Amino acid sequence: MLHFILNDKEIKTSLAPGITLLDFIRYQNQLTGTKIGCREGDCGACSVLVGEIKDGNLIYHSVTSCLMALGNAQGKHIVTIEGINTSGLNAVQEAFAEEGATQCGFCTPGFIVSLTGFCITDKKLVYENAIDAINGNICRCTGYKSIERATAIIVKKLTERNADPLQFAVDNNFIPHYFLGIKQRLTDISDSYESNITLSPVKKLAGGTDLYVQQHEELEDMDINFLFDKEILNGITQENNNCVMGASVTAADIAGSSLFQQYFKDLQNHIKLVSSTQIRNMATLAGNFTNASPIGDFTIFFLALNAKLILRNNSEVRAIALRDFYKGYKVLAKEDDEIIEKISFALPAENDLFSFEKVCKRSYLDIASVNSALHVKMDGAVIKEAGLSAGGVGPIPAFLINSSKHLTGKSVSVKLVQEVIEIAQKEIAPISDVRGTAVYKRLLLSQLIKAHFIKLFPSIPLEKMISAS
Ligand code: FES
Ligand code: FES
Repeated sequence: MLHFILNDKEIKTSLAPGITLLDFIRYQNQLTGTKIGCREGDCGACSVLVGEIKDGNLIYHSVTSCLMALGNAQGKHIVTIEGINTSGLNAVQEAFAEEGATQCGFCTPGFIVSLTGFCITDKKLVYENAIDAINGNICRCTGYKSIERATAIIVKKLTERNADPLQFAVDNNFIPHYFLGIKQRLTDISDSYESNITLSPVKKLAGGTDLYVQQHEELEDMDINFLFDKEILNGITQENNNCVMGASVTAADIAGSSLFQQYFKDLQNHIKLVSSTQIRNMATLAGNFTNASPIGDFTIFFLALNAKLILRNNSEVRAIALRDFYKGYKVLAKEDDEIIEKISFALPAENDLFSFEKVCKRSYLDIASVNSALHVKMDGAVIKEAGLSAGGVGPIPAFLINSSKHLTGKSVSVKLVQEVIEIAQKEIAPISDVRGTAVYKRLLLSQLIKAHFIKLFPSIPLEKMISAS
């Protein structure tokens, strides 16, 4: 039986854990303030907050409830728009009303919930972070200027914060008083789920952000093994010179990791290219790898870093390089009874260089037409070792072996970049689809390779590089 808190109400349910949280909220609890827009994680109309205790602290983040399994609500606090009602309008709603930031109102609950989530996190209280909190919410009729002005009002009020985020939010009419009792109530809810991982051949589900787009109805009746919250599949640690991550680490976990921030100076810019805040809070690394999309952003990122996967079933554990994991379109070097348990990679040395680039039809919140990453180990001015990956240019996420080899042992020059582009063109086989023609994708990869070198080696004459196209 699932046990969690929905707004102020304790829930115990034996309903199929594979139904979406969205359907449970709307159809089992008649909380219709949470809207159904796309059911694909794109619009944010179904946004809710999820509160959970981590390292002794109650933390909240926003998710799209259309892509979250009811089973992943176990032991958590789920907050809908109805759950943040105070006696009148709350402070976020007041700001929206003041600035005329709503018209038809369909998107408004999602915006209000996402911004309220920002008001109770310990994130730096600056306007840019507040806007990031609503980067997964789309409005079709208001126009974003009034929403931005309302956001600025909210941030101004928050800068007066001088207490614990939840206490300040309650004292200043952002959220109702019952939030202050949630930590104790969650502590009292014992985890009624088996904490061991069973590897029987049932459907394995982590964040579900891809599976619920593809198999929303089928998942409702499936026997599901929920992996998202398993302790052994979580956490980011340093072991000697390696970074070791549990398979259920999310994109948001990576963005917030001090280890990643230390070793990847451009990390926040890379992460902003990956989906939206709500999806990043749910989407897991292993999900990205096993989905096997030829343009999976994190797959391309970690292919260049030569990441290793630890796979296990009930009796065996084995390691495999991510570069050897893809055998054909959506065909993996993994048995049905295996899961990815951990992912590791060697942390970059001080003089290593890393770049991730992505081109989509729009800058953010979009699937790549082509993406690419380059990791080089330098010995003075000479490349000691290189890893170049590319997505969207063939049936699998590609590690470009010959291009990477060609870079090894050479000094960077415009000529070398031109040679690598030529070799890379022989290693790819893009097809024409909704994200661009094959010819366009070839051109994109050439440009992304140039972009890597322009960014990582600013001393290369840029003009020559451009004229080489
Ligand atoms: Fe659009 Fe969920 S309904 S993101
Ligand atoms: Fe109509 Fe945003 S107010 S979609």
